[in-house]
Amino acid sequence: MSGPIDTEQPETELSSAGPDTVDAAVEGAWAYERLHVNALFRQWVEPVLDAAGVTIGSHVLDVACGTGVVAREAQRRVGPDVSVTGLDIGGGMLAVAESIEPEVTWIEGDAGRLPFDDDRFDAVVCQFGLMFFPDRIGAIREMLRCARPGGRVVVAVWEALERSEAYPISVDLLERRAGTAAADALRAPFVLGDTDELHDLCTQAGASDVSIDTHHGTARFPSVRTMLEADLRGWLPVMGVFLDDDLIDSILYEADNALRAYVNKSGEMTFGAPAHIITARA
Ligand SMILES: C[S@@+](CC[C@H](N)C(=O)[O-])C[C@H]1O[C@@H](n2cnc3c(N)ncnc32)[C@H](O)[C@@H]1O
Repeated sequence: MSGPIDTEQPETELSSAGPDTVDAAVEGAWAYERLHVNALFRQWVEPVLDAAGVTIGSHVLDVACGTGVVAREAQRRVGPDVSVTGLDIGGGMLAVAESIEPEVTWIEGDAGRLPFDDDRFDAVVCQFGLMFFPDRIGAIREMLRCARPGGRVVVAVWEALERSEAYPISVDLLERRAGTAAADALRAPFVLGDTDELHDLCTQAGASDVSIDTHHGTARFPSVRTMLEADLRGWLPVMGVFLDDDLIDSILYEADNALRAYVNKSGEMTFGAPAHIITARA
């Protein structure tokens, strides 16, 4: 399990798979892994696992694991004698996760009804999933139930849209060119930016010792085009929104101009992407 992990998609090329394509969910998950994970999500793995106190031998559950960026690093930390568990509602996400890291135990399931006994894990983590759960208090309660007494539950959520960079411009662009459903799919990750609301959610779920740390974070995409493609071909399909190729091309063309303030001399796009890391005790 040591050494670099090859996350190249086997055989299939990135395409604009539509909802009628049998493996659209897997295509979308590969796009998410290739376009989003390095640019946005990987930077949070270490702080989340540090906050959760994950170390050799820890029993770890990663809720809403996606393609598994947190769970596979947790697996490296805990060592070969323990298998980390990753749970997600998306079969496509799990298929990609499994093909990248078979040592982790991947389980399809709902964060609202975790299929585990009480007190089973030393640490339960959930990186950028809570905003998508219909019953957020119920999901936190479930994470607390599955953590052993005194164990840690760590949840990462993005700051509010207006305190993030670049994404407010992308949301406006999508609202104008692709409609409210597409724009809402891009707004969805940012709806839990209010720390008072986060405290309330945790305490209503029965958490104690709740602390919230806000981290600056930086998104780094190779270009504006990659950033927008990550959303249009990677994220929107995960949220059930599929745009056709002509529309995607014309949005990409407009985005080059709308987002050029975030492009440096080498063409790379970087911008602030702050997030909260919430730590609670079971
Ligand atoms: C932004 S992704 C984050 C994935 C991963 N944690 C990461 O950091 O890359 C959000 C994930 O939440 C999952 N999800 C949404 N609703 C869920 C639910 N009710 N139960 C479990 N997973 C869910 C989605 O399938 C998706 O994989």
